[in-house]
Amino acid sequence: MEAERGLVRKRNANTHPKRCVRPAQQVSERIGYMYQVKAKVLSNEKLSEAHYRIKLEASQIAKAARAGQFVHIRCGPGYDPLLRRPFSIHKSRQGRIDVLYQVVGKGTGLLSQKRRGDQLDSLGPLGKGFEIEPAFKKIFIVGGGIGVAPLYMVAQEITRVGQGQDVTVLLGAKNKELILGKDEFERLGLEVTIATEDGSTGYRGLVSNLFQEFILSQTSLSVAVYSCGPVSMLRKIAELSRHRGFFCQVSLEQKMGCGLGACLGCVIRGRSGYLRVCKEGPVFDAKEILWDNLGL
Ligand SMILES: Cc1cc2nc3c(=O)[nH]c(=O)nc-3n(C[C@H](O)[C@H](O)[C@H](O)COP(=O)(O)OP(=O)(O)OC[C@H]3O[C@@H](n4cnc5c(N)ncnc54)[C@H](O)[C@@H]3O)c2cc1C
Ligand code: FES
Repeated sequence: MEAERGLVRKRNANTHPKRCVRPAQQVSERIGYMYQVKAKVLSNEKLSEAHYRIKLEASQIAKAARAGQFVHIRCGPGYDPLLRRPFSIHKSRQGRIDVLYQVVGKGTGLLSQKRRGDQLDSLGPLGKGFEIEPAFKKIFIVGGGIGVAPLYMVAQEITRVGQGQDVTVLLGAKNKELILGKDEFERLGLEVTIATEDGSTGYRGLVSNLFQEFILSQTSLSVAVYSCGPVSMLRKIAELSRHRGFFCQVSLEQKMGCGLGACLGCVIRGRSGYLRVCKEGPVFDAKEILWDNLGL
């Protein structure tokens, strides 16, 4: 059994702001709150040279999680590193969540050493996720590298609530060893097209270029695009989508402090003013972002 450390009485941005907080015994049944839990590691599997999938027992987070939300994990045993690290919730089911991660530094290095039975202080689900709108006739899901992580739940939600839309999944990576999640999308019955920068499998080139080719033949205006990956890729996806009048949502990454909207450490500039990636995001309408200010 996981040791649930209790509910943190704070709304995330996915909730209805005008409803009042319910008594604690009812709150645990509700969606849209965040929890701080000692999540038990069920497995921590190495998928490639730098990629891992960690499965955590965290029933309350799993139950409340929506596509695009994230967990904020204390990766070390104590306060080194001091700050938690944010990770998209890749899957949530039956009391557990999966996180796909790439080892890039100290925090993710420590995470890769976790073993079955270890516990991870985890806060979540946090942030505002994707808006899955079943009315669109054509849907593109576009992931670059580890950016595939939040998109599986998007696909899962679309196949659950959708009305037979045409869904195209485009995944990109540097080479075929670094392609993540293809089988999982296919198990949902979705067709996946791969782009690799070295051409080792699929389309040779960037996944944003592949997206550009796919939309050449797209005549419908009822198109939604859900994307996550490097900023340069997201910018191109956003520009192409804006040009064609597509609804486009992107999940952004920023270094984070609190993850709760309090420290302003993750602020970016948007058209309507400053935006906290942890609170107003990490998922944004692509038109809202001032891409020139994201340090490309
Ligand atoms: C909302 C959100 C969701 C994320 N989801 C995932 C995920 O599902 N899987 C995954 O592998 N990573 C994800 N990330 C990125 C992940 O949080 C960072 O890779 C991680 O914090 C790095 O910690 P570290 O201590 O290993 O690296 P550090 O030693 O802190 O830094 C190593 C390198 O990574 C860069 N970096 C550090 N933090 C971030 C960050 N938050 N965003 C971008 N670059 C960073 C640093 O600039 C440096 O170049 C997500 C980030 C955000 C904001
Ligand atoms: S990380 Fe503190 S406000 Fe976003």
